[in-house]
Amino acid sequence: MKARKPLVAGNWKMNGDIVSNEHLFTALRASLERASLPQVEVAVCPPYPYLGQAAAWLGDTGIAWGAQDVSAFGNGAYTGDVSAAMLVDLGCRWSIVGHSERRQLAGETDDQVAAKVSMCVAHGIGVIACLGETLEEREAGTTETVLGRQVDAIAASLVGAAQPLPAERIVLAYEPVWAIGTGRTASPETAQAAHRFVRERLVARGLHDAAAVRIVYGGSVKAGNAASLFAMPDVDGGLIGGASLVADDFLEICRAAAVA
Ligand code: 13P
Repeated sequence: MKARKPLVAGNWKMNGDIVSNEHLFTALRASLERASLPQVEVAVCPPYPYLGQAAAWLGDTGIAWGAQDVSAFGNGAYTGDVSAAMLVDLGCRWSIVGHSERRQLAGETDDQVAAKVSMCVAHGIGVIACLGETLEEREAGTTETVLGRQVDAIAASLVGAAQPLPAERIVLAYEPVWAIGTGRTASPETAQAAHRFVRERLVARGLHDAAAVRIVYGGSVKAGNAASLFAMPDVDGGLIGGASLVADDFLEICRAAAVA
């Protein structure tokens, strides 16, 4: 068994409604209870309007819930934003920040991602900070430059915090943009190389307990490829998009993490 407890988190993205969520919550509760996988930490991140529904359905289970994003600002005149304090109020254990869809579609910069990490740290919310290179960047041979820049911004917020998050609440998600929603999963070796690079960079930037930080992989993780990815020494679980919307598939991925 790995020293770091694997985390499998479902990023539901902008999917679902009250009725379909209820089915998914019910199925996840039942199947994860039956499977009993204490070796894995499991979380789901539904869209904001359904976080209260997640709390109602998952509150008495071992499944955590989290948000897909958080504001870089505290409560106030920020129309459309949702603050870290509100996420705490809703019982969120986690927030994803810096997902590539937000970096690309909403133009989020490394500095904004860093500010969001700081908000999570200040409120004690576990952070799942995403990073990853585009296909063009990989083909141009600049993967490590890009990952290094992204890690540095995240690490600065973690290291500089007055009250740092404990290592078990810090997760980095390596999500190569070319693998997200494409069915083109990174090979286990490609993922391992990136994860090792990220961990070494965290150490170099002064995150002393980087060995205890989980680095999860995201990008077309399916029931059929999860085991080989999670078998890699620095792959500590997964951030799952499409497959997290199908209870049986998500359960199989959780099982794969349990035996890794
Ligand atoms: P897919 O699993 O659908 O490729 O999405 C990955 C992802 O973006 C998780 O955050």
